[in-house]
Amino acid sequence: MISSKTINKSNSNLHCGNIEHYEETSYGISGKTENAYFKISVIQEGTFKIHLSSSKEFDKHSYAVISKPLNIDFSCIYHDNIVEIKTDKLTLELNKSPFAVKFKNKAGELINEDDASFSTSWLGEQVTTYKKLQEGERFIGLGEKTGPLDRKGNGYQNWNTDHFGYPPDSDPLYCSIPFYIGIHNHLSYGIYLDNSHKSHFNFGASNRRFSSFSADQGDMAYYFIYEDNVEDIISAYTDLTGRMELPPMWSLGYQQCRYSYKPDKEVLGIANFFREKEIPADVMVLDIHHMQDYKIFTWDGEDFPNPSKMIEKLEEMGFKLVVICDPGIKIQEGYEAYDSGVKEDVFIKYPDGEYYEGEVWPGWCHFPDFTNPDVRNWWAEKLKAYTDLGISGLWNDMNEIATWGQYLPELMEFDFEGQKASTRKARNIYGMQMARSTYEGAKKNHPNKRVFNLTRAGFAGIQRYAAVWTGDNVANDEHMLLGVRLVNSLGLTGVAFSGYDIGGFAGDANSKLFARWISIGAFAPFFRGHSMINSRDSEPWAFGEEVEEISRNYINLRYKLMPYIYSAFYEAHESGIPVARSLAIYYPHDDKIYNSLYENQYLFGANILVAPVSSEVNLAKVYLPEGNWYDLYDDKFYHGTQEIIAECPIEKLPVFIKASSIIPMQDRVQSLSNNQNSVLYLHIYKGSENNTYQYYEDDGDTFNHVEGAFYKRVIEYKPQEKQIIFHAKEGNYKSQYKEVQIYFHGFENELKQEISIDQQSIPIEKSPFRFIDPISNFDPLPDQERTDFKIENLPLSKFKWEEEQFIINW
Ligand code: NOJ
Repeated sequence: MISSKTINKSNSNLHCGNIEHYEETSYGISGKTENAYFKISVIQEGTFKIHLSSSKEFDKHSYAVISKPLNIDFSCIYHDNIVEIKTDKLTLELNKSPFAVKFKNKAGELINEDDASFSTSWLGEQVTTYKKLQEGERFIGLGEKTGPLDRKGNGYQNWNTDHFGYPPDSDPLYCSIPFYIGIHNHLSYGIYLDNSHKSHFNFGASNRRFSSFSADQGDMAYYFIYEDNVEDIISAYTDLTGRMELPPMWSLGYQQCRYSYKPDKEVLGIANFFREKEIPADVMVLDIHHMQDYKIFTWDGEDFPNPSKMIEKLEEMGFKLVVICDPGIKIQEGYEAYDSGVKEDVFIKYPDGEYYEGEVWPGWCHFPDFTNPDVRNWWAEKLKAYTDLGISGLWNDMNEIATWGQYLPELMEFDFEGQKASTRKARNIYGMQMARSTYEGAKKNHPNKRVFNLTRAGFAGIQRYAAVWTGDNVANDEHMLLGVRLVNSLGLTGVAFSGYDIGGFAGDANSKLFARWISIGAFAPFFRGHSMINSRDSEPWAFGEEVEEISRNYINLRYKLMPYIYSAFYEAHESGIPVARSLAIYYPHDDKIYNSLYENQYLFGANILVAPVSSEVNLAKVYLPEGNWYDLYDDKFYHGTQEIIAECPIEKLPVFIKASSIIPMQDRVQSLSNNQNSVLYLHIYKGSENNTYQYYEDDGDTFNHVEGAFYKRVIEYKPQEKQIIFHAKEGNYKSQYKEVQIYFHGFENELKQEISIDQQSIPIEKSPFRFIDPISNFDPLPDQERTDFKIENLPLSKFKWEEEQFIINW
């Protein structure tokens, strides 16, 4: 039976009221107001949880928050109408009559405050917290939401929804992540609403008094995070909701998908074409037509008579196979998944005990209740059909739950880890629990093999189980740029591994659009081409020779950048900081970055600035934020904090490297599963700031890194001392690289003919480096005599790459 809370039956706003009594507890303060019960808990020095409930019984279970409470030192100071709860970083001022909270930092600056009259209130069962709008306040985050980078003036809803070909301002979409970051007066903070019911966020939409967040039912439970900068706020948020595991290295390569490649000969043919054309790729993806009548865990006997042979052949060509997984199990006696599902009683039920039936690809289906641990185990067993066959990746689709009619009944009952909940509470987390079941199931079946797991629907914390892609986008420029914003916004909310269908899922891309999209996509964390049934062919060679060359160039560049990209994924795994980093992470107080001309720009990893531009322009304005920058292609130097006009013919995406950067690269390779590279290239860009870079490497395939099988090395660039310090290597993995070559960019006036390594002098030579190859009408290094792209090449065959600290001087 699902329990319910006291309901505010009146139609008017019911404020939680004055505090009637309270007490200090081991975690903070708890008490009662006229109309609610409350608990304020100190979670971290900069993170407090504010929890209000309309009844004595507080909601306990959270699918999102996994951190365990720490014993943080705090003190309570009592004044007449105020109680202060204080840590070394954050002070919460609790107003007693009426209940309202205010947050201040150590310097006494006001970070955030409740609207004094409404603070937390109920309207019927819906509970809302109102926050006074601060002068110049901006709002970023909320995950997969359309609209601008700065969400001020807009309102949003969280209700996981399948929306084919969604218009560029559509809301809600597939994923719900009720976490945002507020920015004003050189301060920033995060708020995570931990309630999985339908929720609403208003960032000063249709009003100029407050921002607010509401849940249709359940408690008001939110975490308030204050840190010195946006980066640390994301880190603190991912302390709460978890971080991604390291992905298999091959999953960072190019993935080719289509709704649907069939029969097996076509799958093998496409893979072979990549090899013939020397366009790097790592994955072939099977959409729904590989199954018999769309029934999960089955194969179409005619089109795919021998899947294991097909997988073997793909492996020989250096390809992995990813298959789609839909939650709907066809109602059909004799179909194993159905029979065993009924026998083990795994399906979602109506309150009268009858199984829910919804119609989707296979016809009428039942759906596993992934909120039940036993059902997750059942799913793991079923998944053996894929994992034992050698399938390396799984793609969770239609898990909002999408059914024909798109109007999921709300009375269904879910197990919710034994707590029981209706669709209203379970819908938003269903997709995440499916992705979890798939992730944990695959891991259970092959404990020391990393699995690539992709999902369409998700909730806060989804990053622990799966990468996210942005669903059924449309082949046009607006969608291409929207996809970038969606991915950047997902990154602000803990999801570091995400991407979009390159070329557009619905509709037909033209050649220019595809060329631009694949160039931008080469700088997306998840890199996959995919398109809809009955749309035109959309492989990199399907748009003519010029586009093929452009595609090859940018895919090659991604593969060459893999040491840098993999190290960025390691950072995401360690600290939660995303791979695609909205400029708002590093420059939140720079008004320019929110300008609609520049809001799509982002840093790919810490040092590469990507300016996504439409396919229809040859010149575009780009904003270079604070610091100094180099053009990737010709090393042209720019001072930051300026708008420039960048040339962007279709062959050239504007990309810039931050001064003082260290960028590790390798030679091009066709497949990451078969990466025999032995030379690591380190690109150092002259700058005036010190920079510390963390290089990371491991086998890219197992969990041996957890036991220490990794190679990690901090490389420090110290311009004043004219030094690069390679700190001692950590971990016991032997690097795959045997040789290191260093390229110095922008040092032409500073470097002479030699440098020294640990005081031994070594000659250096001039040698320009090409990030991308010249193609028919574009040479990235057109004039060899120009000094601004002069690069010094330093081959170091005796480089102490496996040894202790050493220093390079010049
Ligand atoms: C919907 C997904 O969003 C799309 O990517 C997929 O191709 C179709 N389902 C068919 O499985």
